[in-house]
Amino acid sequence: MSTAHSPVSHPVAAQPVAAHAARRAQLAARLGPGVAIVPGAEEINRNADSTYPFRFDSGFFYLTGFTEPDAVLVQVIGSDKVENILFCRQKDEEREIWDGYRYGPDAAREAFAFDAAYPIEELDTRLPQLLANQPAIHFALGVNAQWDLRVAGWLNAVRAQVRTGVQAPSRIIDIRSALNELRLVKDEHEFTILRAAGRINAAAHQRAMRFARPGQMEYELEAEILHDYYRQGSRFPAYSSIVASGPNACVLHYGENNRRMQDGELVLIDAGCEINGYASDITRTFPVNGTFTPAQKAVYEITLAAMQAAFDAAKPGNTWNMPHDAATRVLIDGMRELKLLTGSADEILENGSYKQFYMHRTGHWMGLDVHDVGDYQVNGQWRTLTPGMVFTVEPGFYIRPAANVPREFEHIGIRIEDDIIITTDGHENLTESCPKSVAAIEALMAG
Ligand code: GLY
Ligand code: MN
Ligand code: MN
Repeated sequence: MSTAHSPVSHPVAAQPVAAHAARRAQLAARLGPGVAIVPGAEEINRNADSTYPFRFDSGFFYLTGFTEPDAVLVQVIGSDKVENILFCRQKDEEREIWDGYRYGPDAAREAFAFDAAYPIEELDTRLPQLLANQPAIHFALGVNAQWDLRVAGWLNAVRAQVRTGVQAPSRIIDIRSALNELRLVKDEHEFTILRAAGRINAAAHQRAMRFARPGQMEYELEAEILHDYYRQGSRFPAYSSIVASGPNACVLHYGENNRRMQDGELVLIDAGCEINGYASDITRTFPVNGTFTPAQKAVYEITLAAMQAAFDAAKPGNTWNMPHDAATRVLIDGMRELKLLTGSADEILENGSYKQFYMHRTGHWMGLDVHDVGDYQVNGQWRTLTPGMVFTVEPGFYIRPAANVPREFEHIGIRIEDDIIITTDGHENLTESCPKSVAAIEALMAG
């Protein structure tokens, strides 16, 4: 199997071209006759003539392995044959001197196993031809207004020819239901990359634990994490890192990372690297000075027990909500033990008062996007877990000052997060190597 050259620099081999081609075939089989249109991403200006680092569109990459901007995948799906066509940037020696290598249609067709490839400039003339006499367009309508208009323009160009006997597609079908279902269940190639991402991320979090001292700024820990990602070949974080010390840990999406960390506080780090486009997503919460106080330890142990309950429920045959429900039960018992809440566990569950301290869910699908695609319910029922599904397990416990909160627990915010793959008999923890027991964290930080 050949492996296409990929401009993404990384220590992990790119997925084989055949894996992407197989996904195109699977998608076509699910979609049925018509024309599928999957636009890639474009470069986005940051300011003046500087761009943000380019990131390909996840769905486009999943189906192609092609990592250049300004490209579109078109699948012409007949009842007995599928033609896969790539539109991409032309070769351009002048631009390549300034910006670097680009495949051009001929080399891209060859390297990525397409049936045909054309310059992106030919999209508007070729698409109306490709859509003629086709029953349907498979396209993610409503994601990008400019693409919506463009597809409508092609459709109208076909409709304008009806008096010559040409028929225009009569249906526009949202491609995402089929594509997202495919992406939800990962394959062996994806496992390999996700395992590497988990391992690299776990090492970076440990580096931050070793480096932490009272008096440092939160961004100094962020720098240690990012340094370790780069060093290990992850050139981009999968999302903006959260380094939240003291009261900031109770701000769920805190991202300023510019507070000075104090002796006696906890710091919560939620950070993830990206490897070959795939995310890792770890949260660890640890004492800035290396030793948990009794109050911090009490809340931490409850959160860790909730995580264990969620793990126990993370197995095939169980439904998506079961890990969350199991974790929530343990957290509620803990809230009662710490005298933060009164009433029976069932009452607390019923009236939702636990949401004062636990207001998010226990996980999300993870893959090419950190919050990956895939429905959580099917026909109004929570989805059944099956081997190959990848998701996070991330219970939390956040105690903001309030009338019912004893002083010693004020501002304690804890989240612990690992990433798992559902296997045939349970799950595999991708981020197990990052310590999370009180003893293991204190030992690492003392070392
Ligand atoms: N870092 C985003 C999340 O944990 O969902
Ligand atoms: Mn997460
Ligand atoms: Mn996270």
